[in-house]
Amino acid sequence: MAQHDENVVWHDHPVTRDAREQQHGHQGVVLWFTGLSGSGKSTVAGALEQALHRLGVSTYLLDGDNVRHGLCRDLGFSDADRKENIRRVGEVAKLMVDAGLVVLTAFISPHRAERQMVRDMLPEARFIEVFVDTPLAVCEARDPKGLYKKARAGELRNFTGIDSVYEAPEQPEIRLAGEQLVTKLTAQLLDLLRHRDIIKS
Ligand code: ADX
Repeated sequence: MAQHDENVVWHDHPVTRDAREQQHGHQGVVLWFTGLSGSGKSTVAGALEQALHRLGVSTYLLDGDNVRHGLCRDLGFSDADRKENIRRVGEVAKLMVDAGLVVLTAFISPHRAERQMVRDMLPEARFIEVFVDTPLAVCEARDPKGLYKKARAGELRNFTGIDSVYEAPEQPEIRLAGEQLVTKLTAQLLDLLRHRDIIKS
């Protein structure tokens, strides 16, 4: 990877994050959903984005399965590739927070170190870790894409929860018991955002 070039100098532009946030009427922040495949990250993030959108909040949802069709299409599921996946998504999320958006991300992001790396990239209190804590047995029973079945049959290697690690968050800002109704989980998250003064309405 290229080293930082001493001839490339950071340029501060006249329109600041503060000015952009004032225009949006809310702060920029990342809601980082983490959990096993099939835990409900994308579903809950999608429902929350819809609720926020209706409230007039400027949002964007970065979803693992979608990002892997474009920005991260060259990456697989080795530890090194997952790390690079999360690094890129972290950088994109950081830009979007600078743009003043409420960014929702739905990635397994199985390693504590990578989630911490993204937290450290962002300004203080702009990273909210949302642990979708659905037990492996429930995710496996759901198996929406049939991938657990393939992993158990040995047709898919390095599958999270089967033969690849998932390190649960130790101190997430919020833990969702992923078996509850999506509407209830969404309401819980909206409360958190109001409580933190990220959204007003
Ligand atoms: S991460 O580990 O790098 O954060 P990411 O969230 O982007 O993963 O992608 C996970 C999605 O890729 C899963 O929901 C699943 O649909 C698919 N997938 C394909 N192979 C694997 C695998 N070996 N482990 C986990 N998910 C996989």
